[in-house]
Amino acid sequence: MLKLLTVWIDVLTLFPSMFMSPLQESILKRAQQCGHLTLLLHQIRDYTFDRHQMTDDLPYGGGRGMVMKPEPIFRAVHAISGTDASIPIVLLSPQGRTFTQQMAMTMAQQPRIIFICGHYEGVDERVRQCLVTDEISIGDYVLTGGELAAMVVIDAIARFIPGVLAPGAAFDDSYASGLLEGSQYTRPPVYAGIEVPAVLRSGHHAVIAHWKHQAALQKTYMRRPDLLENLDLDREDLAFIKELQQLQRNPGEPNEE
Ligand SMILES: C[S@@+](CC[C@H](N)C(=O)[O-])C[C@H]1O[C@@H](n2cnc3c(N)ncnc32)[C@H](O)[C@@H]1O
Repeated sequence: MLKLLTVWIDVLTLFPSMFMSPLQESILKRAQQCGHLTLLLHQIRDYTFDRHQMTDDLPYGGGRGMVMKPEPIFRAVHAISGTDASIPIVLLSPQGRTFTQQMAMTMAQQPRIIFICGHYEGVDERVRQCLVTDEISIGDYVLTGGELAAMVVIDAIARFIPGVLAPGAAFDDSYASGLLEGSQYTRPPVYAGIEVPAVLRSGHHAVIAHWKHQAALQKTYMRRPDLLENLDLDREDLAFIKELQQLQRNPGEPNEE
Protein backbone atom coordinates (compact mmCIF):
# COMPACT_ATOMS: atom_id res chain seq x y z
CA MET A 1 0.00 0.00 0.00
CA LEU A 2 1.25 3.53 -0.83
CA LYS A 3 2.28 5.59 2.18
CA LEU A 4 0.26 8.80 2.57
CA LEU A 5 2.60 11.80 2.39
CA THR A 6 1.62 14.55 4.76
CA VAL A 7 3.08 17.98 5.31
CA TRP A 8 2.43 19.31 8.78
CA ILE A 9 2.47 23.11 8.99
CA ASP A 10 2.39 25.12 12.22
CA VAL A 11 1.66 28.83 11.88
CA LEU A 12 2.48 31.31 14.65
CA THR A 13 0.29 34.39 14.36
CA LEU A 14 -1.47 37.10 16.33
CA PHE A 15 -4.46 36.80 14.00
CA PRO A 16 -5.38 33.11 13.55
CA SER A 17 -8.91 33.91 12.40
CA MET A 18 -7.48 35.49 9.22
CA PHE A 19 -6.66 31.95 8.05
CA MET A 20 -10.12 30.47 8.54
CA SER A 21 -11.90 31.12 5.28
CA PRO A 22 -8.99 30.86 2.79
CA LEU A 23 -7.78 27.57 4.23
CA GLN A 24 -11.27 26.09 4.51
CA GLU A 25 -12.23 26.27 0.86
CA SER A 26 -11.63 24.28 -2.28
CA ILE A 27 -8.35 22.38 -2.74
CA LEU A 28 -6.80 23.36 0.61
CA LYS A 29 -9.89 22.18 2.45
CA ARG A 30 -9.84 18.85 0.62
CA ALA A 31 -6.08 18.46 1.19
CA GLN A 32 -6.68 18.71 4.94
CA GLN A 33 -9.73 16.45 4.91
CA CYS A 34 -7.78 13.76 3.03
CA GLY A 35 -4.84 14.00 5.43
CA HIS A 36 -2.30 15.37 2.91
CA LEU A 37 -1.92 18.63 4.81
CA THR A 38 -2.16 19.31 8.53
CA LEU A 39 -2.42 22.96 9.55
CA LEU A 40 -2.17 24.09 13.13
CA LEU A 41 -2.64 27.75 14.02
CA HIS A 42 -0.95 28.97 17.20
CA GLN A 43 -1.85 32.24 18.89
CA ILE A 44 1.45 33.90 19.86
CA ARG A 45 -0.36 35.71 22.69
CA ASP A 46 -0.86 32.34 24.42
CA TYR A 47 2.90 32.27 25.03
CA THR A 48 3.06 35.51 27.02
CA PHE A 49 3.44 35.40 30.81
CA ASP A 50 2.59 39.00 31.75
CA ARG A 51 -0.80 40.20 32.95
CA HIS A 52 -1.48 42.22 29.78
CA GLN A 53 -0.32 39.46 27.42
CA MET A 54 1.96 41.88 25.57
CA THR A 55 3.41 40.63 22.31
CA ASP A 56 4.89 43.94 21.11
CA ASP A 57 6.76 46.88 22.53
CA LEU A 58 8.27 50.24 21.56
CA PRO A 59 11.36 50.13 19.35
CA TYR A 60 14.69 50.92 21.02
CA GLY A 61 16.17 54.11 19.60
CA GLY A 62 12.74 55.52 18.87
CA GLY A 63 10.78 55.42 15.65
CA ARG A 64 7.28 54.69 14.56
CA GLY A 65 5.17 51.68 15.46
CA MET A 66 5.73 48.63 17.61
CA VAL A 67 8.10 45.70 17.36
CA MET A 68 7.09 42.12 18.19
CA LYS A 69 8.81 40.92 21.35
CA PRO A 70 11.16 37.95 21.09
CA GLU A 71 10.18 35.93 24.22
CA PRO A 72 6.65 34.80 23.20
CA ILE A 73 7.90 33.79 19.74
CA PHE A 74 10.84 31.81 21.14
CA ARG A 75 8.56 30.12 23.70
CA ALA A 76 5.98 29.24 21.07
CA VAL A 77 8.56 27.72 18.71
CA HIS A 78 10.20 25.71 21.50
CA ALA A 79 6.83 24.44 22.73
CA ILE A 80 5.85 23.35 19.22
CA SER A 81 9.13 21.85 18.00
CA GLY A 82 10.31 20.35 21.32
CA THR A 83 13.76 18.87 20.85
CA ASP A 84 13.39 18.35 17.09
CA ALA A 85 16.05 20.65 15.59
CA SER A 86 15.36 19.45 12.04
CA ILE A 87 12.10 21.39 11.58
CA PRO A 88 12.54 24.45 9.30
CA ILE A 89 11.47 27.64 11.09
CA VAL A 90 10.46 30.18 8.46
CA LEU A 91 9.87 33.86 9.10
CA LEU A 92 7.67 35.63 6.55
CA SER A 93 9.53 38.86 5.84
CA PRO A 94 9.80 41.41 3.02
CA GLN A 95 13.57 41.11 3.52
CA GLY A 96 13.68 37.35 2.87
CA ARG A 97 14.49 35.26 -0.21
CA THR A 98 11.83 35.78 -2.86
CA PHE A 99 9.46 32.80 -2.92
CA THR A 100 9.46 30.72 -6.12
CA GLN A 101 7.79 27.63 -7.53
CA GLN A 102 11.07 25.73 -6.99
CA MET A 103 10.98 26.64 -3.29
CA ALA A 104 7.35 25.45 -3.09
CA MET A 105 8.37 22.09 -4.60
CA THR A 106 11.25 21.67 -2.14
CA MET A 107 9.17 22.68 0.87
CA ALA A 108 6.44 20.20 -0.11
CA GLN A 109 8.98 17.44 0.64
CA GLN A 110 9.40 18.53 4.26
CA PRO A 111 7.38 16.55 6.79
CA ARG A 112 6.94 19.60 9.00
CA ILE A 113 7.45 23.39 8.75
CA ILE A 114 6.87 26.22 11.22
CA PHE A 115 5.90 29.64 9.86
CA ILE A 116 6.17 32.83 11.92
CA CYS A 117 3.99 35.76 10.85
CA GLY A 118 5.31 39.18 11.80
CA HIS A 119 3.05 42.19 12.28
CA TYR A 120 3.34 45.92 13.09
CA GLU A 121 6.94 47.01 12.34
CA GLY A 122 8.14 43.40 12.31
CA VAL A 123 9.94 41.14 14.80
CA ASP A 124 12.86 41.72 17.16
CA GLU A 125 16.16 41.06 15.36
CA ARG A 126 17.05 38.23 17.79
CA VAL A 127 14.23 36.15 16.33
CA ARG A 128 15.96 36.37 12.96
CA GLN A 129 19.43 35.76 14.32
CA CYS A 130 18.84 32.93 16.79
CA LEU A 131 15.57 31.22 15.93
CA VAL A 132 14.64 31.18 12.27
CA THR A 133 16.29 28.96 9.68
CA ASP A 134 14.92 30.81 6.64
CA GLU A 135 13.22 34.10 5.74
CA ILE A 136 10.79 34.19 2.84
CA SER A 137 9.33 37.18 1.02
CA ILE A 138 6.43 36.90 -1.41
CA GLY A 139 7.60 39.96 -3.35
CA ASP A 140 9.20 43.36 -3.22
CA TYR A 141 6.41 45.19 -1.40
CA VAL A 142 5.37 45.48 2.23
CA LEU A 143 2.22 43.90 3.67
CA THR A 144 0.69 44.77 7.04
CA GLY A 145 1.44 41.28 8.34
CA GLY A 146 2.88 37.89 7.46
CA GLU A 147 -0.52 36.15 7.49
CA LEU A 148 -1.42 36.74 3.82
CA ALA A 149 2.15 35.85 2.82
CA ALA A 150 1.97 32.59 4.82
CA MET A 151 -1.31 31.70 3.10
CA VAL A 152 0.23 32.30 -0.33
CA VAL A 153 3.21 30.10 0.53
CA ILE A 154 1.05 27.33 2.07
CA ASP A 155 -1.22 27.29 -0.98
CA ALA A 156 1.72 26.97 -3.38
CA ILE A 157 3.30 24.20 -1.26
CA ALA A 158 0.04 22.25 -0.97
CA ARG A 159 -0.20 21.91 -4.76
CA PHE A 160 3.02 19.85 -4.74
CA ILE A 161 2.06 17.44 -1.97
CA PRO A 162 1.40 14.10 -3.70
CA GLY A 163 -2.33 13.40 -3.82
CA VAL A 164 -3.52 17.01 -3.51
CA LEU A 165 -3.85 17.53 -7.28
CA ALA A 166 -4.17 14.95 -10.04
CA PRO A 167 -0.80 13.22 -10.67
CA GLY A 168 1.57 15.55 -12.56
CA ALA A 169 -0.94 18.43 -12.68
CA ALA A 170 1.22 20.92 -10.78
CA PHE A 171 4.15 20.12 -13.07
CA ASP A 172 2.24 21.33 -16.18
CA ASP A 173 1.82 24.79 -14.71
CA SER A 174 3.94 27.85 -15.36
CA TYR A 175 7.43 27.84 -13.76
CA ALA A 176 7.46 24.11 -12.88
CA SER A 177 9.49 23.21 -15.99
CA GLY A 178 11.00 26.69 -16.20
CA LEU A 179 8.52 27.85 -18.89
CA LEU A 180 5.23 29.72 -18.67
CA GLU A 181 2.27 27.56 -19.64
CA GLY A 182 1.01 28.15 -23.18
CA SER A 183 -2.40 29.58 -24.08
CA GLN A 184 -5.39 27.45 -23.08
CA TYR A 185 -8.88 27.19 -24.55
CA THR A 186 -12.22 25.66 -23.72
CA ARG A 187 -15.60 25.59 -25.49
CA PRO A 188 -16.98 27.30 -27.58
CA PRO A 189 -14.67 26.67 -30.56
CA VAL A 190 -15.16 30.24 -31.83
CA TYR A 191 -15.60 33.20 -29.50
CA ALA A 192 -15.07 36.93 -29.97
CA GLY A 193 -14.09 36.17 -33.54
CA ILE A 194 -11.17 33.97 -32.39
CA GLU A 195 -11.04 30.31 -33.28
CA VAL A 196 -9.45 27.66 -31.08
CA PRO A 197 -6.36 26.33 -32.95
CA ALA A 198 -7.47 23.32 -35.00
CA VAL A 199 -4.64 21.15 -33.67
CA LEU A 200 -6.15 21.24 -30.15
CA ARG A 201 -9.35 19.73 -31.54
CA SER A 202 -7.56 17.11 -33.64
CA GLY A 203 -7.47 14.44 -30.90
CA HIS A 204 -3.88 13.62 -31.90
CA HIS A 205 -2.10 13.48 -28.54
CA ALA A 206 1.51 13.63 -29.76
CA VAL A 207 0.80 16.58 -32.08
CA ILE A 208 -1.11 18.36 -29.32
CA ALA A 209 1.76 17.82 -26.84
CA HIS A 210 4.22 19.26 -29.38
CA TRP A 211 1.95 22.26 -30.04
CA LYS A 212 1.57 22.88 -26.29
CA HIS A 213 5.34 22.79 -25.79
CA GLN A 214 5.87 25.32 -28.58
CA ALA A 215 3.02 27.48 -27.25
CA ALA A 216 4.78 27.48 -23.85
CA LEU A 217 8.08 28.43 -25.47
CA GLN A 218 6.37 31.21 -27.40
CA LYS A 219 4.60 32.64 -24.36
CA THR A 220 7.80 32.54 -22.32
CA TYR A 221 9.75 34.19 -25.13
CA MET A 222 7.15 36.97 -25.45
CA ARG A 223 6.58 37.62 -21.74
CA ARG A 224 9.54 36.35 -19.74
CA PRO A 225 12.55 35.89 -22.03
CA ASP A 226 14.76 35.97 -18.91
CA LEU A 227 13.42 32.51 -17.97
CA LEU A 228 14.76 31.01 -21.20
CA GLU A 229 18.32 31.91 -20.24
CA ASN A 230 18.30 29.31 -17.42
CA LEU A 231 16.96 26.47 -19.55
CA ASP A 232 18.75 23.71 -21.37
CA LEU A 233 16.89 24.02 -24.69
CA ASP A 234 17.34 21.40 -27.40
CA ARG A 235 18.11 22.12 -31.04
CA GLU A 236 14.46 22.11 -32.09
CA ASP A 237 13.52 24.58 -29.35
CA LEU A 238 16.39 26.89 -30.30
CA ALA A 239 15.32 26.79 -33.95
CA PHE A 240 11.74 27.60 -32.93
CA ILE A 241 12.92 30.58 -30.90
CA LYS A 242 14.96 31.77 -33.84
CA GLU A 243 11.75 31.63 -35.91
CA LEU A 244 9.99 33.70 -33.26
CA GLN A 245 12.77 36.27 -33.35
CA GLN A 246 12.44 36.48 -37.13
CA LEU A 247 8.67 36.86 -36.83
CA GLN A 248 9.20 39.70 -34.40
CA ARG A 249 11.47 41.44 -36.89
CA ASN A 250 8.95 40.83 -39.71
CA PRO A 251 5.55 41.25 -38.05
CA GLY A 252 2.51 40.30 -40.10
CA GLU A 253 3.73 36.78 -40.73
CA PRO A 254 1.38 34.12 -39.29
CA ASN A 255 2.27 32.71 -35.89
CA GLU A 256 1.02 29.90 -33.60
CA GLU A 257 -1.33 31.83 -31.29
C1 LIG B 1 4.73 46.03 8.04
S1 LIG B 1 5.69 44.57 7.84
C2 LIG B 1 7.22 45.06 8.55
C3 LIG B 1 8.15 45.64 7.55
C4 LIG B 1 9.49 46.04 8.14
N1 LIG B 1 9.36 47.19 8.98
C5 LIG B 1 10.47 46.32 7.02
O1 LIG B 1 10.51 47.47 6.58
O2 LIG B 1 11.15 45.39 6.53
C6 LIG B 1 5.02 43.50 9.03
C7 LIG B 1 5.16 42.01 8.75
O3 LIG B 1 4.50 41.69 7.54
C8 LIG B 1 5.11 40.58 6.94
N2 LIG B 1 5.43 40.96 5.54
C9 LIG B 1 5.33 42.18 5.00
N3 LIG B 1 5.65 42.19 3.72
C10 LIG B 1 5.97 40.92 3.40
C11 LIG B 1 6.40 40.28 2.20
N4 LIG B 1 6.58 40.96 1.08
N5 LIG B 1 6.63 38.96 2.25
C12 LIG B 1 6.47 38.26 3.39
N6 LIG B 1 6.06 38.80 4.55
C13 LIG B 1 5.82 40.11 4.56
C14 LIG B 1 6.34 40.24 7.77
O4 LIG B 1 6.02 39.14 8.61
C15 LIG B 1 6.57 41.50 8.56
O5 LIG B 1 7.21 41.24 9.80
